[in-house]
Amino acid sequence: MLLIVISLVILSCKSSENATIKNRGVTSEKAMVVSAREEASIIGTTILQKGGNAFDAMVATELALAVAYPYAGNIGGGGFMVYRNKAGETGALDYREKAPLAASKDMYLDENKAVIEGKSTLGAMAVGVPGTVAGVFEVHRKFGTLSIEEILAPVIALAKRGVIVTKKQEKRIAKFQASFLKANKKPILFNKSWKENDTIKYSALAATLSRIQKNGRDEFYKGATAERLVKFIQENGGIITLEDLEKYEPKWRDPITFTYDDLKIISMSPPSSGGICLSQIMNAIEPFNLSEFGHNTTKSIQVITEAERRAYADRSFFLGDPDFVNIPQKELISKAYSQKRMKNFSFEKATLSSEVAHGNIEIIESDETTHYAIVDQFGNAVSVTTTINGGYGSKLYSSELGFFLNNEMDDFSSKPGVPNMFGLLGAKANEIAPEKRMLSSMTPTIVEKNGKLFMVVGTPGGSTIITSVLQTILNVHEFDMSMQDAVNAARFHHQWMPDVIKMEPNSFSNTVKSELKQLNYQLDESNAIVIGKVAAILVLENGQLEGGADKRGDDAAVGF
Ligand code: GLY
Repeated sequence: MLLIVISLVILSCKSSENATIKNRGVTSEKAMVVSAREEASIIGTTILQKGGNAFDAMVATELALAVAYPYAGNIGGGGFMVYRNKAGETGALDYREKAPLAASKDMYLDENKAVIEGKSTLGAMAVGVPGTVAGVFEVHRKFGTLSIEEILAPVIALAKRGVIVTKKQEKRIAKFQASFLKANKKPILFNKSWKENDTIKYSALAATLSRIQKNGRDEFYKGATAERLVKFIQENGGIITLEDLEKYEPKWRDPITFTYDDLKIISMSPPSSGGICLSQIMNAIEPFNLSEFGHNTTKSIQVITEAERRAYADRSFFLGDPDFVNIPQKELISKAYSQKRMKNFSFEKATLSSEVAHGNIEIIESDETTHYAIVDQFGNAVSVTTTINGGYGSKLYSSELGFFLNNEMDDFSSKPGVPNMFGLLGAKANEIAPEKRMLSSMTPTIVEKNGKLFMVVGTPGGSTIITSVLQTILNVHEFDMSMQDAVNAARFHHQWMPDVIKMEPNSFSNTVKSELKQLNYQLDESNAIVIGKVAAILVLENGQLEGGADKRGDDAAVGF
């Protein structure tokens, strides 16, 4: 029997300073998928029930999200997968988008070297060469056991049958109406005023997926789909060519691994900043006794904020595509380095970001991504974050092919010192170059405890991804929360610049807020802020799996 729970029905989080809350999420005996839509979690689980492994389920869940969650699920974007197989071996796949061959360093600047507003975010010029289809086929080639035909069958059936609009989705579609019209020459499927409980049928996407099912990966990169895609992008003023698609390859990477107390953390390596940044923050806070300070208390928030401030300052300076820049990875992830960076922190007063530069080593994103976590009945685990960057990506939608194109080019630094859509500053390491991958914050992560699988975790959230993953791990490890409570608990975020602690509104006590203000911290509780939307699975002591499906979305944990 499938066990399903939608995050909304789970008891809501009681954010507090003394959070040892035990609202368990859905639990299962053998296997589980947690994703942004129940339909995708069910399809992933169905593949597992057919005898497929976590990698088969990854292919199914990824493509099911492209159908059921077009806000971020995609075949027009890219992503990262971290895995730990049943033998305990770990690895990572980078299927991040790339800059087109015709891209150049100043492509988003005008004649006065000023950033042209919207050029890297809306429409065809914002699109990076998509990696998702190559990514899922690579995962399947290396680890898959069921046939692609079998894996894609329920996904295509879902696209034909259609997906029911949720209240949250109704609001998202309404919010982007004007942008859809601006980015596209004609109104698109999403320009209809879709309401909750309507069913959207995705027949064009079903046809594209059916061609991919029949012709394989090359359909998207060399075949009829590739030709139509390139024509469409170029007709809309973009620069992606057939050669760009033909040259696209995903890359296996060594994940970032580090310890925190008795945990071993396995997370994404560059071109994502996720793993390095997470390691820097966790290394910096490890010497402090957070569990004694308490969850979301002034002292805990101070320590975490100051560690985040220093790590994000480094992110901006050192990190970029490792195929193009030398990253001092060993130094950055060493405990000594991050602990030295904390030497000038004092509980008496906030450090000013203007006084924090990147560290001295000799030698520099929003809620619109999506994450899913899978543990299979054999003991394999995958943690995947995939994205088209902004909500509905570049808003450019091919009505013929049935999907949105990403606006991942905005994750490059268009101009050093000018923030991107997530307010992140960049430097030379992340400047645009042909075929380069743009820096990411995506942090698909797997945690081991005593050499065994403990947690699979990740989230959307642009620049807030890293800090949301951090807090979810800490909530379980330091504050003894259940997986579901850890996911639902109130979150905060600091990213060096701007020098503010973003906080989820109405979630932190007035005492804590006024203490922080007295210590010279700037707080930002504006309503629009969503700090992560975590999907996670925890292995309980009795071997059961507990899902953490975030109350902030329509997320669902499904297992058996
Ligand atoms: N596009 C968001 C990220 O990669 O971090």
